[in-house]
Amino acid sequence: RASAPVVVAIDGPSGSGKSTVSRAVASRLGLSFLDTGAMYRAMTWWMLANEIDVDDADAVATACTKPVIVSGTDAAGPTITVDGQDVSAPIRGPEVTSRVSAVAAVPEVRARLVELQRTSAVAAERGIVAEGRDMGTVVFPDATVKIFLTASEEARSARRAAELRAKGVDEATIAAMAADLGRRDAADSSRKTAPLTRAADATAVDTSDMTLEQVIDHVVDLVQARSPHT
Ligand code: DC
Repeated sequence: RASAPVVVAIDGPSGSGKSTVSRAVASRLGLSFLDTGAMYRAMTWWMLANEIDVDDADAVATACTKPVIVSGTDAAGPTITVDGQDVSAPIRGPEVTSRVSAVAAVPEVRARLVELQRTSAVAAERGIVAEGRDMGTVVFPDATVKIFLTASEEARSARRAAELRAKGVDEATIAAMAADLGRRDAADSSRKTAPLTRAADATAVDTSDMTLEQVIDHVVDLVQARSPHT
């Protein structure tokens, strides 16, 4: 059956389960997977490595065309490189995490990464699950399915702490990152360009009292209802 590739747009705040759910849904449906937060993180990592003041929006805007950012979209093992260097690990660290909102607020950065995101979707053979903050509102306004994942602040910080603890991160860092999470969500939701917001035609799913498996099943059902051949 020849048809336009499926685009599943998944947005939500950090700790809503977005990344895990999006990747699992992509695996289950045999679709590509794009973690757009990783792209903003990779851009931030490059800015910090090149000693660019991330609070200087003009400097960030001028520099942001320089790094070559490549996202591998295999749901079984997503990768991200900057100028050929694998940055999967350092982009999850506290330095990048605490500065990424400033970089993501710069319109020139967004314009450049949005273009890369759309290119990835076009290249995806069967379709793509793309997750971020503005997938349904800005990047893929015509997505096949739009999901907005939410969770109570309590549930979100508990999940994030459990994730970090499983990685062996110490408690002091976990507490600092929890404080940072609230600040980051506020910044991401209140910025001028493409703030985190639910698209009018997105289905909201509150995951606070759902297990991961339940959320994955529910999202897979929503995709298959819209696109029966997926
Ligand atoms: O999902 P994440 O925590 O890895 O995202 C990192 C940051 O990037 C987050 O603070 C918001 C920003 N972001 C964005 O502005 N737009 C997106 N599409 C994805 C992430």
